Amino acid sequence: MAVTGDPRRVGWEPNLMTGVVHFLDPYRYRSTFHRMNPDISEEEFAQDYLNHLEEIILYEGPESIAGILMESVTGTNGIIIPPQGYMQGVRALCDKYGIVMICDEVMSGFGRTGKMFAIEHWDVVPDIMTMAKGLTSAYAPLGAVAMKPEIAAAFDEHAFESGLTYTSHPISLAAAVANINAMREDKIVEHVAGMGGVLRRMLTDLGEAHPSVGEVRNIGLFGILELVKDRKTKEPMAPWNGSSPEMAALKKYCTDHGLFLYTHWHTVLIIPPLIITEEQLKEGMDILDKALEITDKVANK
Ligand SMILES: Cc1ncc(COP(=O)(O)O)c(C=O)c1O
Repeated sequence: MAVTGDPRRVGWEPNLMTGVVHFLDPYRYRSTFHRMNPDISEEEFAQDYLNHLEEIILYEGPESIAGILMESVTGTNGIIIPPQGYMQGVRALCDKYGIVMICDEVMSGFGRTGKMFAIEHWDVVPDIMTMAKGLTSAYAPLGAVAMKPEIAAAFDEHAFESGLTYTSHPISLAAAVANINAMREDKIVEHVAGMGGVLRRMLTDLGEAHPSVGEVRNIGLFGILELVKDRKTKEPMAPWNGSSPEMAALKKYCTDHGLFLYTHWHTVLIIPPLIITEEQLKEGMDILDKALEITDKVANK
C-alpha cells in the first residue's frame, strides 16, 4: 500500500511504511513537462523523465534508497507504455546508485503484452519481480516474487518473518505449472504478439471515428482508450479518481449488450482473454463502437 501510486493508498495515509517517495510515470499524452513541446523525440522524452527520476534520487540521497518499484507497463492507472530507452535508463540509474530494481508484473506479466514479461520488451532484467494473476491464468489464486540469487541468499541467513495460511499451496502451484506448460504448448505469447497489431488497428479505427476518443494505446492485448470532452484541451470525460454520468452510461451500454469491460475514471481498458480471436475482438469492438456514441454527444467536434 505504501509504495503504490494508486489513489487507494491515500485513505491509509499516514499509517504506512515511511520513507516512500513517488515519481512521475513517463506519460506522454498528459505530460506536464511537454505541454509546450509535444513533438519532442521519444529518446528526449525518455531522457527528460530519467532526469526527473535522477533528480529525485539525488535529493533523497542515493545511499538511503533501497529499491525502485514500478509496473513494467502501468496497468489500471493508464496502460502507460514506457518510451524506448526509459526502462534501460532506470536500470542504469539503479546500477549507478546501487538501488534494487523491482518490476511489478502482476498485470503485465505472463504474455499480456506479447512477451512472457513486459520488461523483456526493453531487454532489461530487474533484480526482483512480482507476479500473480496470469501466473495461473487465475484458475487458482497465487502470487509470487522472483529475485536474483544473491538477494534470495539473504533469506538463507535471515528467516523471512511472515506467514500465510496458503503459502505455497500445492493446488495453486500445480495450477501455475500447468498454466505455464499450456501457455507454451498453445503458443499463447506468440498469439498475443500477433494480436497486438490487430488490436492497434481496431483501436485506431475507433479513435478516428469518435471525437470523444483522445488517444488509444496498446502493447499486445493490454490496451486503453482515453475519453475526452475536447481533443485539444484533453479535458477528461471523468475527473481523476472519479466518474461521470457519461462514463457510467457507456459502461452500462456495454454490459447490457453482453460486453464486460473495465472502465476506470475517463478510460476504457481493453484487457481481453489472451486466447481471444480476431473475430471475438471485433465483436466486442462493435459494441464499444456503438457505446462511444454516448460520450461523443458531450465531446466538442
Ligand atoms: C499491478 C498490480 N500489482 C499488485 C497487485 C496486488 O496483487 P495481489 O492481489 O496478488 O497481492 C495488483 C492487483 O490488482 C496489481 O494490479
